[in-house]
Amino acid sequence: MNITFRWLFVLSFCMTLKPIQSQEDPSMNLRILVTGGAGYIGSHVCYYLKEQGFEPVTFDNFSTGHREAVRFGSLVEGDLLNPEHINQAIQKYNPIAVMHLASFIQVGESVKDPLKYYQNNNVGMINLLNAMKNHHVPYMIFSSSAAVYGNPTYTPLDEDHPCYPINPYGQTKWMIEQMLKDCDKAYGLKSVSLRYFNAAGAAPEQNLGEAHEPESHLIPLMIKAAQKGDAGKPLKIFGRDYSTRDGTCLRDYIHILDLADAHLKALSYLRGGGETLSVNLGSGHGTTNFEMIQKIKELFGVDVPFEYADRREGDPAVLVSTYEKAEKVLGWTPQRPIETVLTDAWKWHQTEK
Ligand code: UFG
Repeated sequence: MNITFRWLFVLSFCMTLKPIQSQEDPSMNLRILVTGGAGYIGSHVCYYLKEQGFEPVTFDNFSTGHREAVRFGSLVEGDLLNPEHINQAIQKYNPIAVMHLASFIQVGESVKDPLKYYQNNNVGMINLLNAMKNHHVPYMIFSSSAAVYGNPTYTPLDEDHPCYPINPYGQTKWMIEQMLKDCDKAYGLKSVSLRYFNAAGAAPEQNLGEAHEPESHLIPLMIKAAQKGDAGKPLKIFGRDYSTRDGTCLRDYIHILDLADAHLKALSYLRGGGETLSVNLGSGHGTTNFEMIQKIKELFGVDVPFEYADRREGDPAVLVSTYEKAEKVLGWTPQRPIETVLTDAWKWHQTEK
């Protein structure tokens, strides 16, 4: 075969190959244990994993999760505070990775009852890491938070900003990031800590959305107040004297499906030999609390009944992040703007009973 002919042969062989699919080969073990899979972010992550050809296994104690949200794979009802539960789950399902989202998340409560947070978030994590070590699970994607930074000294935040958490919730996340670095050094367990900014939005077609008990997050409270009109309680906007463009706090909202996508990209990064690291998931843009109310009016023609109230303890004025590191290392960029976040959340709340 001369050279030209050989190339033609190779080319024609390549043309008979199927294009590369985004989904992975289903014959491989693509089982992922998702702790907190019944929660707001966890259930969207499970949906997304399933969509992409993985097999999510939810591990949840239903302290705050929703049974009806576990629809995308198997369920283990168990508690991370019981080492037997998590050891048995990992032994039975033999996952290639753990996505760890189970945690208490209320900043205010963590200030009032810090031990509840250290016990649940940190002791639970130690049990989980021991189980992973015992059964040689090599990768973890950890749900960290913008709360690790404390009060920003500059914005937008990047990962070089010093971390001085200002509440026990943020401390638990920061301490876990340190545990993960040590576990890499000692046991070779590789991890990505995803520092979420404001997770928001919904997957209304999947009947998945944001509901906490008690509800403390701005978007669900704002939409409920708008959709229930006068029958609903007016929204309280906490603080109007911050140094922002209209005096109300500024936040960086990331669509929940963009967050879910980051989990998969982080896993691909680790499976491709990536090193342990922490990365921000933000959009580079902020919206103030007052602008959120205006956007609801623009998008849906409905007023949000609201009143101003005192500042809420522990609220930084501005939390906005760059996504340069996430783009460079994970190939992740946020795809859905704040309008999509609000439209999806609005649609889901319309169907919520
Ligand atoms: N807000 C109101 N009224 C409300 C609820 C919230 O004005 O009834 C304001 C808050 O003061 C804040 C903004 O809306 O300015 C967003 O508040 P959320 O409670 O929705 O979200 P946070 O920014 O407080 O929390 C997020 C994550 C936490 C994480 C924190 C980091 O949800 O998990 O960022 O500071 F810890």
